[in-house]
Amino acid sequence: MVQTSPFRVLIASSNRFLAEDMYQVLTSEGYDVFLADTSEEAENLALRLRPDLIIIDVQIPPSGYELCRQLRTNTALSHIPVLMLIDSRDISARVAVLEAGGDDYLVKPFPSDELLYRSRSLLVRYRSGPTRQPITTSNQGRVMVFFGSKGGVGTTTIAVNFAIAIHQVTRKPVLLLDADLHLGDVSVQLDLSAPPDITHLLRLDELTPLHLQEAIQHHMSGIHVLLAPPDFQEARAITPDQLTTLINFLSTVYDYIIVDSRACFDDRNLALLSRADEIFLTLTPEVSPIRNTSAFLRLAEQIGIPLNAVHLVLNRANSNRSIGLRAVERHLNTRVEFWLVSSGQVIVRSLTQGVPMIISQPSHPFSEQIVQMARTITAPPASSGSGAR
Ligand SMILES: Nc1ncnc2c1ncn2[C@@H]1O[C@H](COP(=O)(O)OP(=O)(O)OP(=O)(O)O)[C@@H](O)[C@H]1O
Ligand SMILES: [Mg+2]
Repeated sequence: MVQTSPFRVLIASSNRFLAEDMYQVLTSEGYDVFLADTSEEAENLALRLRPDLIIIDVQIPPSGYELCRQLRTNTALSHIPVLMLIDSRDISARVAVLEAGGDDYLVKPFPSDELLYRSRSLLVRYRSGPTRQPITTSNQGRVMVFFGSKGGVGTTTIAVNFAIAIHQVTRKPVLLLDADLHLGDVSVQLDLSAPPDITHLLRLDELTPLHLQEAIQHHMSGIHVLLAPPDFQEARAITPDQLTTLINFLSTVYDYIIVDSRACFDDRNLALLSRADEIFLTLTPEVSPIRNTSAFLRLAEQIGIPLNAVHLVLNRANSNRSIGLRAVERHLNTRVEFWLVSSGQVIVRSLTQGVPMIISQPSHPFSEQIVQMARTITAPPASSGSGAR
């Protein structure tokens, strides 16, 4: 498909004020502008969006020069013009731009008309480059909803660790959404208690990457997180449609959207379950979670959720001597795809400290099983099917 939409500009800068100023200037001129605040994110976005121009602030961590060099060695991106934002007019700074492969530079601070002029001239110069690729707006990102067969079975713990494991295994953009809207504790498990959160995103008529930028939290593991609102009334006001719209948008930006939910069948959860590409149904080897799992599987069929989209995750699998893995499978008359060990005090400690097991105890069997689960789920179809068992 040949693109007729406006030019696309990717700004790579960790300076939020500078990035927002440039965003305003360029969008008011009709450009489609996208923001990245780390080099890794910039490269991922560049690969996905195939922008017409990339603007790199040399201060972006770990190094704007290094990012530019990296883009130049990537055959899919090397033709895209790069405008560097440097801090000094010194000859050494300008030479560094050329050595990194930049096409032009601007010395900070710069007037907005100079930004427009330099951007336009680079775009004109490179207009004869390869045909632009459309932005991926089909629902490419995989939406994975974690749903508990009962409260307290470990759903949030598993979702949080799994999101980080997916990022570690794939190095792709991962977003963890706390959709346990009233009592979500992703913030506690990741020690991200300050704002922002999901709230203002849901009130918008149109979602853009800039809005997203304002609402997401960056966790040190590399994943992005959208927290539940701390306010009860705000949480109450969120509608099923708003959640679906948000997830549809997120799936155009991230490769994996991991959703933690509350164990109940309200309309918002039904919307989440209907939108999910995959559902991870968590249970423990106890009578009530097993019975609820059975009920869930029956309901899934009734509301049109294909059973092959539901993965059963048996948490604390070794915690009940009288109900082992096989007994659970016999009761449910189906296979339990993943199981996780009971981790006693270590996991409670990691929760108290706000550092997930997969980071604080990477070689603990629980963490290794989560990583194996992520590998199985992200494996190409031909080699998947072995499960984590
Ligand atoms: N494999 C495990 N071994 C030991 N303890 C675990 C394990 N998984 C979770 N826990 C503990 O169980 C408790 C509940 O975990 P978590 O909050 O993740 O469950 P939940 O199903 O999301 O609960 P809620 O219904 O409140 O949202 C926590 O104290 C957690 O540390
Ligand atoms: Mg929970």
